[in-house]
Amino acid sequence: MSDLRRGIWREFFPRKIRHWLVPIGTMGLVGLIGAMLLAMTGVLNLAASTPHPQGWASFLHFAFQRSVAFHSRNLQPPAEINSAALIEKGATHYDRVCSNCHGAPGMGQNPIAMSMRPQPQYLMGSLKDYSPSELFWIVKHGVKYSAMPAWPAGDRDDEVWAMVAFLRAMKSMNYEQYRSITLGAMKRATGAPPALPPGDFRPQPYVIGGTQTAEAAVNFSTPALGFGHSSEIAEIGKSCVACHGTDGRSRASGGIPNIALLNRNQIVRQLDLYRTGVRQSGIMQNVAVQLTPDQIAGLASYYSSQPKVGGAKVRATPAVLALGERIASQGLPDRQVGACASCHGITAAAARAYPGLDGQYPLYLRDQLRLYRSGVRGGDIPANPMPAVAARMTDKEIEAVSLFYASRSLGTAPVRAVDAPVPANP
Ligand code: HEC
Ligand code: HEC
Ligand code: HEC
Repeated sequence: MSDLRRGIWREFFPRKIRHWLVPIGTMGLVGLIGAMLLAMTGVLNLAASTPHPQGWASFLHFAFQRSVAFHSRNLQPPAEINSAALIEKGATHYDRVCSNCHGAPGMGQNPIAMSMRPQPQYLMGSLKDYSPSELFWIVKHGVKYSAMPAWPAGDRDDEVWAMVAFLRAMKSMNYEQYRSITLGAMKRATGAPPALPPGDFRPQPYVIGGTQTAEAAVNFSTPALGFGHSSEIAEIGKSCVACHGTDGRSRASGGIPNIALLNRNQIVRQLDLYRTGVRQSGIMQNVAVQLTPDQIAGLASYYSSQPKVGGAKVRATPAVLALGERIASQGLPDRQVGACASCHGITAAAARAYPGLDGQYPLYLRDQLRLYRSGVRGGDIPANPMPAVAARMTDKEIEAVSLFYASRSLGTAPVRAVDAPVPANP
């Protein structure tokens, strides 16, 4: 290399790092100002009416999938992930909230969702790409710069797992099975689920970033569960019946509480707490914000006057039930926890009545005690004794007392609070 050429080379590519700083800094600044000016002119087209360029959409989705895989790597699904209770708890919420955007077995997506960029995936096609932990992360946190919402109740991981349980089960459902599980308790009252409208509605596989043909788009969106749903489904969907039944006993699998066990004031109070967000639930807050005070009063009168009937059969060893009974009637004297029965035994007189626990589903009781313990439920309500009670209980005690109350049939004499026997050697 000649001296001259070496000189020019050095000029542009100096050997010392500090000689690089100014040129690189200047370039960065010019680039930033350029980008700012470009944005200010307004010529950039951010319209959703044109699809993302193929390569860009694939890159974004790749980055999203990597981010999900990374952040979900240490999550552990709960033991009951395959239980009917969890699957049924997620089902109707999926139908009412997610299916418009993501479709469902035998049903397409709403045309409005088809016009979003990025377009929501047809989940029947893409669920196989994700593990339960990855689905949990997506459903809990949502996706930035897309229409995919985060779970509205940020601390209710138990509800998010219920949705994951349902998504996993939905993968292998056909239309009839899907309708049957999402209408749930309603189906018992009306018989068969509504028939699939005639025609060929095979869902077409969704191509990430690809453009749908007009024919595929129609196949996707007909018969769509519109944002208002068809009239029959709209009536069911708006009401409480798909989840809680006409009798308040909800689903026999026990993921959703039996609300006929509550008295009128408690139903009004709980719906107000959901409505104002003081009691967190991604499922019930969505329902409660749509109710007027008159509707709340009417629904509370209706459900509280339904027959109070206990839930499903409980499987527990006599030793576990005995521990549960001891906690219910004596509390935990070593930790200053009073007998549950000193409050929960009073169920008749409206003003002093506490929620009835006899015959409630064990999974619901357990989850609520855990929520009180972690402060997710009850902390904002002045004088709510439950967070302090639950905070002093172990997992084993919570499990036992939940199973004990669930195993009790209604109409038998209430559990009595008794003084704990004084220990023999203090
Ligand atoms: C308003 C529309 C909308 C609603 C409602 C919605 N989503 Fe999404 N969802 C999206 C969009 C858009 C994406 C795609 C994000 C992306 O590709 O970056 C998405 C992505 C997903 C994914 C990842 C799919 C894949 O193949 O990568 C899952 C899983 C998912 N949503 C589940 C749900 C569930 C469960 C609900 C209901 C609780 C729900 N979504 C509600 C719009 C929606
Ligand atoms: C999509 C299913 C779904 C629908 C629809 C629904 N609920 Fe619920 N409901 C639930 C679930 C799940 C819970 C438990 C939430 C929690 O863990 O806080 C619940 C809890 C409740 C509670 C509190 C129970 C307790 O023991 O504290 C009341 C009261 C209630 N629902 C009333 C209603 C009424 C009234 C309607 C109709 C306007 C309704 N729900 C519609 C699923 C539903
Ligand atoms: C000092 C009175 C008191 C004691 C003692 C007490 N509770 Fe409660 N409990 C309440 C009140 C009041 C509520 C309603 C609070 C609310 O709305 O969050 C409640 C609510 C609950 C709920 C939620 C019910 C539902 O339908 O959502 C459960 C579960 C529960 N208690 C279990 C227990 C157990 C188990 C014990 C004993 C270890 C116990 N409680 C001891 C007063 C008490």
